[in-house]
This record gives sequence, structure tokens and C-alpha cells, in this order.
Amino acid sequence: MAAPSPKVPERPVKAGRERVGEVPPDQAVPPDLETLAASLQVCRRCDLWRDATQGVAGEGSSRAALMIVGEQPGDREDRQGRPFVGPAGLLLDRAMAEAGVGRDRTFVTNAVKHFKHEPRGKRRLHKTPDRGEVQACRWWLDAERRLVKPRVILALGATAVLAVFGKAAPIGKTRGQRQALAGEAVGLVSWHPSFMLRMPDPDAKARAYAELVDDLRLAWKLAA
Ligand code: URA
Repeated sequence: MAAPSPKVPERPVKAGRERVGEVPPDQAVPPDLETLAASLQVCRRCDLWRDATQGVAGEGSSRAALMIVGEQPGDREDRQGRPFVGPAGLLLDRAMAEAGVGRDRTFVTNAVKHFKHEPRGKRRLHKTPDRGEVQACRWWLDAERRLVKPRVILALGATAVLAVFGKAAPIGKTRGQRQALAGEAVGLVSWHPSFMLRMPDPDAKARAYAELVDDLRLAWKLAA
């Protein structure tokens, strides 16, 4: 007999109605990360599911003290169904190794769980998710936060900052600052690895990479 399909959260979240870190009271948080990942496959909270291969849930330790949040799955992540496995993921892995952060002891996820893109010939070009998509997908991020209960959340890039803190903030000015979040977590921000991959100036790139390593080190220390 086929397994019952997971409950679909049908109703879109209206912008500004919920507080960061809180799931609307009328929708039950999935009981565990496996159920969450299965439920994500039938999410219709925004339209991004239409052109994506699958929803990509976070992965890592279900008891991680450090959660790392990126923007959205890229082309590789969309096909493999795992976060940060493409070029940005390789750079993140390198920075984590340099900072002494074991990826398997963290929980790595994204602000938006479906790949937003547009076709360009045979390629699928990344498109930045808009505010409404970030807001709609925050339900999933908040559910992951509820289940994992990280002590520290490191938001990488502007989209993750918006999802985690509920408002935009300049990364250059706010990195290194600890910000209080719901659930007694501490929030930190840093550069997104994809941003570095696009930087033409090698010196600026090296600086941003070194800062990401520093931010990972601080996040790991605070999570210990
Ligand atoms: N891959 C991800 O999973 N997230 C990003 O933000 C970028 C690449």
C-alpha cells in the first residue's frame, strides 16, 4: 500500500504576519527533518516549484548547534536534491575546513527551497528570489529552526539575511555582530560564497574569503 502523502501546507503566508523563528499556529511543524523534506516536495506556497526538479531541504546534524543558511539551491543542488553541492558549496566546504568547522556537525540549508532560474539556451540561469518568495519559504526555514534548535545561525548573503532576520542589512557593516533571534539563538551574517565566485578582483575576492573564514570561526566558537 502506498504511504500516505505528507500534509500540504496550502495557505500562503502573508508578508509580515509572523515573527522570525515562529511557525503560524494553524500549521503543524513536521515531526522530524525526514518528514519535512518529504512535505517540501508538495509545497505550493509560491510558484517556484513549477520549474524546479525538486524542493531541497537542509541537511546535516539534526542536533547541530550551528545552522548555516544560504540563498537557494543552484542548478546542481536542484538536480541532486542536496544543498551546497555545486561550485559555491565547494568554496563553502573549503572555508569551513579552514575554519575548523565540520560540515557534518552543522545543519546547512537555504532561505528558499526551490531553484529559481530562467532558461538561456541549454543553461538554466540563477534568478534571485523576490521578497514574497523568501517570505513564503520562511515557513520551512522556521520549521527547520524549530526542529534543529541551533544556538547560532550564520546567514550567508542578502537573501539569507532577509529570511533569518526579517529585514535587509548591509553585510559589510553587520558581519561580526551578534544579533539576538527567537529561540534564544544568536544570528551572524557573512558573505555568500557565490558572491566571491563572481568577484573579478582577486584581492577583493581573497579578502571576502578570509572574512567568511573568520565569520565561520566565530560562529563555531559561539556554538560550542
Ligand atoms: N547552493 C546552495 O545550496 N545555496 C546557495 O545559496 C548557493 C548554492
